[in-house]
Amino acid sequence: MTLSVDNVLDAISKVIEPDLKKDLVSLGMIRDLEVEGKKVTFKIVLTTPACPFKESMRKACIRSIHENLDKEAEIDIAFDSKVTSKRVENEPMLPGVKNIVAIASGKGGVGKSTVAANLAVSLARTGARVGLLDADIYGPSVPVMFDAVDKELDAVEVNGKTKALPLERYGIFVMSIGFFVDASKALIWRGPMASAALKQLFTDVEWGELDYLLVDLPPGTGDIHLSLVQTLKLAGAVIVSTPQQVALADARKAVSMFENNSIKVKVLGMIENMSWFTPAELPQNKYFIFGKDGCKNLAKEMNVPFLGQIPLVQGVCESGDSGKPAVLNEDNPAGSYFEDAAKMLAREISVENAVKLQT
Ligand SMILES: Nc1ncnc2c1ncn2[C@@H]1O[C@H](COP(=O)(O)OP(=O)(O)OP(=O)(O)O)[C@@H](O)[C@H]1O
Ligand SMILES: [Mg+2]
Repeated sequence: MTLSVDNVLDAISKVIEPDLKKDLVSLGMIRDLEVEGKKVTFKIVLTTPACPFKESMRKACIRSIHENLDKEAEIDIAFDSKVTSKRVENEPMLPGVKNIVAIASGKGGVGKSTVAANLAVSLARTGARVGLLDADIYGPSVPVMFDAVDKELDAVEVNGKTKALPLERYGIFVMSIGFFVDASKALIWRGPMASAALKQLFTDVEWGELDYLLVDLPPGTGDIHLSLVQTLKLAGAVIVSTPQQVALADARKAVSMFENNSIKVKVLGMIENMSWFTPAELPQNKYFIFGKDGCKNLAKEMNVPFLGQIPLVQGVCESGDSGKPAVLNEDNPAGSYFEDAAKMLAREISVENAVKLQT
């Protein structure tokens, strides 16, 4: 059969986007289609550069053209992405930010900041523009985790107002309350003061255009959390927990808080951290120190997407302390788990945005 733009589009329209459950053509994902003899070239525009189905969609398009039209077609597919958003244009706060995601937990010390930092870097490595805001007034971690203690921030003038610029580190834009206040003083702040300080990190910082802004929250479900959801239109929240019972009880509370009728923040998913320990000298062994699959099971029970499990690895802790997130170390066995979780998160955001855009 002679190949034409029309019949190639027909063949591609048999390929379904696994999450959005519609074909690539009706989703408007196919661009720049050109057909010349046996040569077919086009671009697939993804809803996130972190799309986990990139390869499978590419193969499905090639198969469909080969099977339906011409076995000898030479197909060249490029990828591009345009991250979706359910924030409206002219959003008063952070107008250039497409998706703001809160990283929360009920219990402290479960690894929120570690997970937030590694997710942020993983997303940026797929090609997205990513920011990380450390909103933990009582114990900011970003300065240490990004080797930025005592760093001076640059400032810019925007509409007659001086704004701080986030620091660029490992391809992401980071900002922390720790750059402005002495953590030992912040500890005594009461709710309203802490909330006001947090608000300044949104209003007095020039964040620019971002696909994802991850907000690392302090533990618990307090005033800061409420003020955040009241101030900003969030894409949703990610709840981090270890598989341990006491952490799970608090994770359950955090999910309930976000899903509460008066708050209504979508829980995009749960991440289980410290799922098992594998000693470097026994790489086949897994020790389930905090119990097995506790968070995974809770996500299922609460009908919340499960984004992944992260092992307890000595290098993760060391990376945090040395100012370079673990995903940047190719030898770190936890790296691929963080990357997979980041892809799952980007996927949930795309699905959520698609649902929203259709309604
Ligand atoms: N997967 C992991 N493997 C090894 N160490 C980890 C892992 N996740 C977190 N840690 C370490 O555990 C400690 C607590 O992690 P982190 O500071 O990220 O927790 P948090 O939930 O943000 O704490 P807080 O509630 O105080 O904000 C840190 O020392 C961190 O390096
Ligand atoms: Mg923290």
